[in-house]
Amino acid sequence: MQGHIFKLLFFLGMMWHGAVTAQISAQLSMLVNSCVVCHGTNGSSVGPATPTIAGMRRFLFVTAMQDMKSGKRPSTVMGIIAQAYSNNEIELMADFFSTQKIVRYPQKFDAKKAQKGKVLYEQYCKGCHNINGRTQSLSNVIAGQWIPYLRIRLSEFRYQGASSPVMADILEYFIQNNSEDSLEELIHFYGSHQ
Ligand code: HEC
Ligand code: HEC
Repeated sequence: MQGHIFKLLFFLGMMWHGAVTAQISAQLSMLVNSCVVCHGTNGSSVGPATPTIAGMRRFLFVTAMQDMKSGKRPSTVMGIIAQAYSNNEIELMADFFSTQKIVRYPQKFDAKKAQKGKVLYEQYCKGCHNINGRTQSLSNVIAGQWIPYLRIRLSEFRYQGASSPVMADILEYFIQNNSEDSLEELIHFYGSHQ
């Protein structure tokens, strides 16, 4: 008899678990469906001004959403979009996007600039954006990110520095010792990863 009860409880447990999972994934797929329109299948964007968000570090995803929602981080469309989501929904979406594999779609880049950029990267960026920025380190994955988006993001750091004190200082230092063209070379270096 006791064995039967255990079996029954086990069976109910399975059903319960299944139901909850199904409920979460229905909610989740509803949430992320409205993002992938712009950010691409599972968060790998087909570009060019919309960033890939697949493989983004979980806490950076949450921070980015909260900061764009509050206006602390500048944005064109995300500030408005982010306001539609609760903290809980943002956490759910963070679980999803941070665990998706990145698909890097080919994009045009200048090979000469990318080559020069590699040298600059070694000197100025490698310490924090490790393995060519291919993996999550201190920031979102930037290797293979869309070149036009990288350009926008870097200019945000430079001219709206409050959104990242770290990057604002680094870019100021970088420009002082190099040039606008060198920054473009770095952008092509990161964009060349496909
Ligand atoms: C209309 C197109 C559009 C939709 C829909 C959209 N995004 Fe975005 N997203 C953008 C653009 C463009 C940016 C760059 C910031 C800006 O200009 O708003 C961005 C930036 C982001 C970033 C910052 C990435 C980084 O590298 O720091 C995150 C995170 C993000 N979006 C998440 C989402 C989520 C989650 C959804 C769905 C709820 C979503 N987006 C829906 C266009 C969109
Ligand atoms: C001292 C560490 C450090 C160094 C060195 C550094 N970065 Fe960053 N970078 C960061 C951090 C931290 C972030 C996350 C944004 C923030 O500060 O909120 C970031 C973010 C970025 C982003 C935006 C990623 C995204 O999707 O939102 C880009 C692009 C970037 N860095 C490029 C560079 C380049 C190019 C260099 C070399 C000139 C560089 N970084 C050097 C720490 C660093």
